[in-house]
Amino acid sequence: MKIRTAVYPVAGFGTRMLPATKAIPKEMITLIDKPLIQYAVEEAIDAGIERIIFITGRTKKALEDHFDVNVELNNQLELSGKIDILNDMKRISEMVDIIYVRQKYMLGLGNAIMCVKDIVKDEPFAVILPDDIILSKTPAIKQLMECYDKVERPIISLMPVAKNETSKYGIVEIKEMITDKFSRLKDMVEKPVNNPPSNMAIIGRYILTPEVVSALDKIEKGVGGELQLTDALRYTATYHDVYGYEFEGKRFDCGTKEGLLEATINFAASNEKLKNVLKEAVSSLNIL
Ligand code: G1P
Repeated sequence: MKIRTAVYPVAGFGTRMLPATKAIPKEMITLIDKPLIQYAVEEAIDAGIERIIFITGRTKKALEDHFDVNVELNNQLELSGKIDILNDMKRISEMVDIIYVRQKYMLGLGNAIMCVKDIVKDEPFAVILPDDIILSKTPAIKQLMECYDKVERPIISLMPVAKNETSKYGIVEIKEMITDKFSRLKDMVEKPVNNPPSNMAIIGRYILTPEVVSALDKIEKGVGGELQLTDALRYTATYHDVYGYEFEGKRFDCGTKEGLLEATINFAASNEKLKNVLKEAVSSLNIL
């Protein structure tokens, strides 16, 4: 079955980015000239996704406004002849159909995914965590969708991380390599404190199937007292193949200052107009 839906869990508080996130959602933080969520939505559209579901919470109104039509702004832009900017504003509001679902309590990523059960029904769907911004030739979620077309089973995006970083991620155990990037998984553990099964970390791109959503009903709360998506995938892997794919691209954790800074530098370096500004700024700093 074709993947036509992408789900974005965006209800979290963004405490790691306070005070920037005190009054605005963390997904509205800007990377160069666009909010993080717009990168994540454009990634899905470029991959051919037709429908988007935002799992939001209180304090996330700015997200809805960003993708809505702002009639007053559009009129003003038209009157002042700023047609290029007007067209860009129209493009954003006409980008894609968005469904908003409210997650009432912050009970974890697994709980967020459960909120879309009645919308996705028996369809497989993509999940994008917008904190994880990925710079790549082919949209990262498209790379996973292409794997899904081959096996029609859940797919998790993977990236090798340093041994001392494994406790920050879900970590997988590989059963067998199918190609040099694509693997069948044996197990996965959310944020292992001791003895991580490998150094292959789960990154915020997934293709999920109804089996994973059903598993969320069967598992107990995990790390942090939250319902963990990794635990649902682990349950699923006990009776049904679950695959991993080491995507091509560079990932930045834009939920942290360090990650956002790194992303800003990398995105500027890959932008023809900003490359020289970056070069000059760095050489004038004398920090190398
Ligand atoms: C979530 C997932 C974790 C994954 C990470 C990637 O954790 O639960 O398995 O490794 O995203 O960014 P979070 O960072 O939301 O705590």
